[in-house]
Amino acid sequence: METVRLSNGVMIPMEGFGVFQVPEEICEQVVRDAISTGYRLIDTASSYQNEKAVGRAIQSCGIPREELFITTKAYIQQMGYEKTKEAFRESLNNLGLTYLDLYLIHMPFGDYYGSWRALEELYQEGKIRAIGVCNFLPDRLLDLCYNAKILPQINQIERHPHYQRADELSQMKEMNVQPEAWAPFAEGLKGMFTEPVLLEIAEKYHKSPAQIILRWNVQQGVIVIPKSVHKERMEENLAIWDFNLDKEDMEKIAALDKGCPSMLDTRKISEIKRVYDYLSNPVLTSL
Ligand SMILES: NC(=O)c1ccc[n+]([C@@H]2O[C@H](COP(=O)([O-])OP(=O)(O)OC[C@H]3O[C@@H](n4cnc5c(N)ncnc54)[C@H](OP(=O)(O)O)[C@@H]3O)[C@@H](O)[C@H]2O)c1
Repeated sequence: METVRLSNGVMIPMEGFGVFQVPEEICEQVVRDAISTGYRLIDTASSYQNEKAVGRAIQSCGIPREELFITTKAYIQQMGYEKTKEAFRESLNNLGLTYLDLYLIHMPFGDYYGSWRALEELYQEGKIRAIGVCNFLPDRLLDLCYNAKILPQINQIERHPHYQRADELSQMKEMNVQPEAWAPFAEGLKGMFTEPVLLEIAEKYHKSPAQIILRWNVQQGVIVIPKSVHKERMEENLAIWDFNLDKEDMEKIAALDKGCPSMLDTRKISEIKRVYDYLSNPVLTSL
């Protein structure tokens, strides 16, 4: 497993394990399976409603706390200085931890500047090792950078072969913000795993399309956090460190870019309404 150094010097694994849509009742076992498979970075969020189960898995997995890298996120209703401070305490309590490795602002909505002040303070107090955002387009990210005392170290964004965001990755590099890909498989929707180009490349390397997608990301310096509730898929998704995609295959994958999101478009009015509607009717199918 490779690691990458964030702008503040903290080392983070290039591959982690996501628990979005993992129901609370199976989440403890799923996370224990992931940790025993070799994952050390676990990505949850207050809105996933499974932080307590993640916490139980952390306490019982037998791996020392300092070897794990735990991420959670503050959701829209937790934006604003006071609310984010309270959300942080609640998440830490749910997880049974004394510090977080990474705390993220989940959406670029609401009073996220107030939240950023809270994150900066918690970071300076040593309660969070790294801070960042999710789903920030470059204009908002740059504005945050101009108005921050502590720069965001991570931007977690939707990224997969159908939505590659090459320009945004270069802009993040200029801002010294590490990209982390959520939904690296686009949740397996829209034919991602049956994409002929990926099947052909997978056959050439004796790998699966899932492994090709993950390898393509990490070869471009993008952290991946695939989710699976199946142990054999957890193992498969972790077996990406023994091969390299050549230039020609990277170019073939580049040609699969459709240039628009499959999961979340924060520029669309209908999407913003959908995200806010979740607040009045929370269900696990939220982002
Ligand atoms: N910051 C944000 O706004 C945001 C938004 C969404 C997600 N995330 C984070 O990113 C993580 C990953 O994204 P995601 O969970 O949405 O989607 P994903 O990782 O792209 O895809 C997960 C889906 O792919 C399937 N799968 C996993 N490995 C597979 C394999 N090797 N072969 C075939 N199918 C496979 C899983 O099924 P099974 O589980 O049945 O195996 C599941 O249906 C999340 O869990 C969450 O931590 C963040």
